[in-house]
Formats: sequence, C-alpha cells, structure tokens
Amino acid sequence: MANYDVIIIGSGPGGYVCAIRCAQLGLKVACVEGRETLGGTCLNVGCIPSKALLHASHMLHEAEHNFAEMGLKGKSPSVDWKQMLAYKEKTIGQNTSGIEFLFKKNKVDWLKGWGSIPEAGKVKVGDEVHETKNIIIASGSEPASLPGVEVDEKVVVTSTGALELGKVPKKLVVIGAGVIGLELGSVYARLGSEVTVVEFLDVITPGMDAEIQKAFQRTLKKQGLEFIMGAAVQKTEATKTKAKVHYKLRKDDSEHVLDADVVLVATGRKPYTEGLGLDALGLKMTERGQIAVNGKWETSVPGIYAIGDVIEGPMLAHKAEDEGMAAAEQVAGKHGHVNYGVIPGVIYTHPEVANVGATEEMLKDQEHSYKVGKFSFMGNGRAKANFAADGFVKILADKETDRILGAHIMGPAAGDLIHEICVAMEFGASAEDLAMTCHAHPTYSEAVREAALACGDGPIHM
Ligand code: FAD
Ligand code: NAI
Repeated sequence: MANYDVIIIGSGPGGYVCAIRCAQLGLKVACVEGRETLGGTCLNVGCIPSKALLHASHMLHEAEHNFAEMGLKGKSPSVDWKQMLAYKEKTIGQNTSGIEFLFKKNKVDWLKGWGSIPEAGKVKVGDEVHETKNIIIASGSEPASLPGVEVDEKVVVTSTGALELGKVPKKLVVIGAGVIGLELGSVYARLGSEVTVVEFLDVITPGMDAEIQKAFQRTLKKQGLEFIMGAAVQKTEATKTKAKVHYKLRKDDSEHVLDADVVLVATGRKPYTEGLGLDALGLKMTERGQIAVNGKWETSVPGIYAIGDVIEGPMLAHKAEDEGMAAAEQVAGKHGHVNYGVIPGVIYTHPEVANVGATEEMLKDQEHSYKVGKFSFMGNGRAKANFAADGFVKILADKETDRILGAHIMGPAAGDLIHEICVAMEFGASAEDLAMTCHAHPTYSEAVREAALACGDGPIHM
C-alpha cells in the first residue's frame, strides 16, 4: 500500500500551495524540499527579499526627495546596509516559518532532502523510498547562464547574490532590462549606486505594452538608471573586487567595455530538473527544457504531474500557486482550472507597473477591432498629494462589445489596482461596467474608473 496519496517535490509557491490544498481535500500528502527552509525561490531568494529591499530603498527615496516639501525637516537617514540586510532576512524568516506552521496545521509531512523519482509511484529522499499514488513536480527554476559570463555570486552575481552583497556597489552594471534587472537596479540606484543597464533588444521589459515600455524607461532614466540598448554582452572579466563587461552594439558591431564593481546577470531563468531522474523515466520535455504537460498538468508518465516555473508559461509565483491549487483538485478527482488569459504581471518599482490580458500590439497583430481608454495619474487628486502622479491607466476594450481585453498601468499601487480589472475580466465585464461602479474618493482606483470612462463618453478629470 502507498504511504501517501500525493508527494510533491519542491515547496515553492507551486508546491506548498498544492500540498495545503491536497490536505484540505482529504489527501495524505508529503512535500519534499532540499533547502533548509520552505517557500522556494519566491520566499527565500526571490519575491519576498526583493520586495523588502525595494520597500526600504523607497523609504529612503521618499525621505531624500519628498519629506522636506511636506514640512518634514531634518537630516535624511543614512544607509546601514547590514541592518537593511538583517531586516530582509527577518522578513524571509517570518514568511518561511509561516509555511512550516501551515504544513503542521494541515498535517503535510515535510520530507527534508533532495528527492528523485526512481519510477512512477516512488520518490526517493536520502536513503528512503516513499510510495505514493501521485507525484507532483514543482521543482521551480534557476538563473539562465550567459556564454562568456562566469558567475561567482560576489562580483558577477545573479539575483541571489544581488540580494546579499557585502556592500552597496559604487558602479553596478545590470545585464538585461527585464523584471529582475529593473527591480534590483532600482534598489541600488536609490541606495546611491551608479546603475547602467545593458539590454540586447531596443526595448525594456519585452512583451509589455509598447506605450508602457517607453513611459517606464523614461521614468527610470529620470531616476538615474542609464540604459545601453541593442547591446549584446560578449563576456565579463572579473577580479576579486572589480569587473569589466564587454559588449557589442548590434547596430554597427562596435565593441565597448564598461567598468563595474558588481555585475548583475538578469537575462532570464530556466526550469530546474536536476537530479530528479526524468531522463530514465522517459518523461517528455519541451524544446525549452520545460516538463511537457496537458491541460490537467499531467506529464507523459501516468501518475506524475508538474506545475509552476518548471512547466510552460510565465514564471510567476501566483501562476505557480494557481496551478498548485488546480492540480491538487485534479488529483482529488475534481475539476481544477486556471484561466491563463487573466494572469496579472507586476513590476514592483516606483511607480509600479502592472498588466493583464492583451497588449495593444497583440490586438493589432490579431486585427482585433478595439478601443483605448487612458487616464493619467496627473488627474488623480490622491496621486498628486502623494507625489505619485507619474503614470497612467490604459484599458483596451472590444470596439463593438465594449468587453475588456487588457489593461496596463504604470503608477502608484498599480500592482493592487490591476486586480479590479482582473475580476472584471473574469466576469466578462465591459468597460462601461467598470465606469458605472462607484469608486471611493480620493483613491488611486478612481484612475481606473476614469480610464474605463475614457472607453466611452470620456473621463471627467482630464
Ligand atoms: P520555486 O519557487 O523555484 O520552488 C522550487 C523549490 O523546489 C525550491 O525550493 C527547490 O529547492 C526545490 N527543489 C527543486 N528540486 C528539488 C528536488 N529534487 N528535491 C527537493 N526539492 C527540490 N514572481 C512573482 O510572481 N512576483 C515577484 O515579485 C517575483 N519576484 C521575484 C524576484 C526574484 C529575484 C526572482 C528570482 C524571482 C521572482 N519571482 C517573482 C518569480 C517566482 O519566484 C517564481 O515564479 C516562483 O518562485 C515559482 O514557484 P515554483 O513553486 O514553481 O518554484
Ligand atoms: P526577463 O525575461 O524578465 O528579462 C531578461 C532580459 O534580459 C530581457 O529583456 C532580454 O531581452 C535580456 N537579455 C537576454 N539576453 C541578453 C544578453 N545577452 N544581453 C543583454 N540582455 C539580454 O528575465 P529576468 O529579469 O531574469 O527574470 C526572470 C523571471 O523571474 C521572469 O520570467 C519573471 O517573470 C520572474 N520575476 C518576476 C518578478 C515579478 O513578478 N515582479 C520579479 C523578478 C523576477
């Protein structure tokens, strides 16, 4: 007889949420985790620590730039980097121990160690082999490497090293103008580093709405980040304390070198499947090294499922969580479902950037007939009072039916504002539905309503 109904490999947002949901559905469940603490990339070296540093550095920025105007006089705080890292560690600890508490509460067994799958129905952890009816792989992702760039996590770092540098670098070169590069680049720019971002493409944050890309880059430049666009990094050369970044401009093949105290390599992440024994199992993979699954998160081997960063789709914690819940429901004989058309994306810079659904470029490509409703935070009273009027809300709606197709926000609390549009989209709402909903004054949310009004007869405050 199997010891377990389900064993989940990996305790990131995909794995731990899946484990808790399995337990809630009455299944006997264990979760294998090789790290010292639960929570995966997100809680240990991703979402949570980066947001702690973004928050602390934003507070410094507010003190330096906006306090005096509000009549808050006195010396700006200075940076105690060790203490800032201690605050970050404390935040991580509160979150990872929270998952440990939830596991105990829900009677999820934590099998400590690195797991492998000798055959379907078996998971090996250390010397012990556990029998189980179902296996769910939630082993996550790791930073992608770049040819010619050797990471030492001291001078040439991935996001993991960038979250625990010995000191704030004088010169930071970031390779890649994606989410990690811009979030962590912002942290260090606020703390006083000279930050240069080297990006292969001619736009930042590929895949986002082009209007937001341009406005966002302008704002980041104003905040002191420098950009070298259309540049292919060739190699880095590092000593114990310094590095050189060699790059070629794509437009004319000219070669250049940048000096840095620290280089952050942020050129994407790749699925992590090392040591699981997937080759021997004959488990089907995609061309991009992800585990191939069907619409029920089943792999090509019966009884083995996969979720989160290790499968196709955006590498986001909430996408992994949703798949975790849905896969648990599938295993329990229910009908778990994820609406991949309504997964928000958020960049936690200041202003924040958030999006859901189609971009204007996608709609043009699809020759979809659409309308645009836009509203600037300059017309929002609360944003002006809070020195947060940089940015706008853009809603895309079907030209005939008025149904909301997508939304893009750059502005204060964009990562929270986007959710009223997500809910509206889940309900198949029209822009008029949003526009006719009373929004409290004075709130940032009023900008969302005004953008919805702009899809119809026009906004009031613009
Ligand atoms: P992971 O969180 O990667 O967890 C996988 C776990 O499996 C790991 O703990 C690993 O140790 C364990 N594991 C792997 N193999 C084995 C094995 N054989 N045996 C035992 N254990 C194993 N996403 C957001 O949505 N919002 C953010 O703000 C955000 N910020 C980020 C910031 C940074 C710097 C980074 C790097 C990522 C960020 N992400 C963010 C992405 C997010 O962290 C991932 O999408 C998310 O963690 C994926 O969850 P997962 O459960 O699939 O895998
Ligand atoms: P990314 O895919 O967001 O960005 C990588 C960037 O590097 C792209 O702009 C790409 O064009 C560029 N690039 C690639 N090769 C290059 C080269 N040789 N030279 C110069 N530039 C190059 O990847 P990133 O930022 O590493 O993040 C990885 C994942 O982590 C993302 O998929 C993201 O979803 C997730 N994440 C999410 C966060 C959030 O939700 N707020 C925060 C941080 C990470």
